[in-house]
Amino acid sequence: MATTLKYYGHSCFALQDGPHNLLFDPFLTGNPQAAIPASDIQADFVLLTHGHSDHLGDAIPIATRCDATIIAPYELAKYCEHRGAKIHDMGIGGAYKFPFGRVKLTQALHGSAMIDDLGTVEYLGNPCGFLVRIAGKTYYNAGDTGLFGDMDLIGRLYKPDVAILPIGDNYTMGIDDAVEAVKMLKPKMVIPVHYNTFPVIMQDPYEFAKKVGKLAKCVVLKPGESFQVS
Ligand code: NI
Ligand code: MN
Repeated sequence: MATTLKYYGHSCFALQDGPHNLLFDPFLTGNPQAAIPASDIQADFVLLTHGHSDHLGDAIPIATRCDATIIAPYELAKYCEHRGAKIHDMGIGGAYKFPFGRVKLTQALHGSAMIDDLGTVEYLGNPCGFLVRIAGKTYYNAGDTGLFGDMDLIGRLYKPDVAILPIGDNYTMGIDDAVEAVKMLKPKMVIPVHYNTFPVIMQDPYEFAKKVGKLAKCVVLKPGESFQVS
């Protein structure tokens, strides 16, 4: 049976396979591109790459409403636990077998903090990417990151079938660096995320697709669109 990858906008997407419903970085409330209100989302696991508001987003209310478990780097997971969510905390380089499959945390070159209305910065540990093995396929969600050479290692060791990469530039890789990431990761399929949500990350995903060319199948999803991975 095929796994459904559903894109909700920005870095938020779901992987749905049979009874399993994994949700990543659910930034919906306040996201001008959000495909669906947070109150309509179902999930049994919520995976968070880092604590910035455009990723942590609605994770805690969704997790508590759905009785879902948040999977996140240790400090961010504890932050969510203190706010009422069920958590599974992890560290970069560590893997764990969940009922749906295996999750491994990878490094990401970025920040991870929550900043309140007074400007107080609360650091939430290291940001991460995720390698998720589900239904015989490996997904690499890079999270927010700049380009790094160990994507070559990730490509060689874990052979991702699908890579989910930011292309927005300014905060993360832009198009050209994301193309370099594809060269190292060698995925069968690549999905660009983290663009066009805000003025500073306006990018043309079709320019990315063109530059990826024959390196991988590039699937450009509009918020609300789904894709069957088979
Ligand atoms: Ni971020
Ligand atoms: Mn971000």
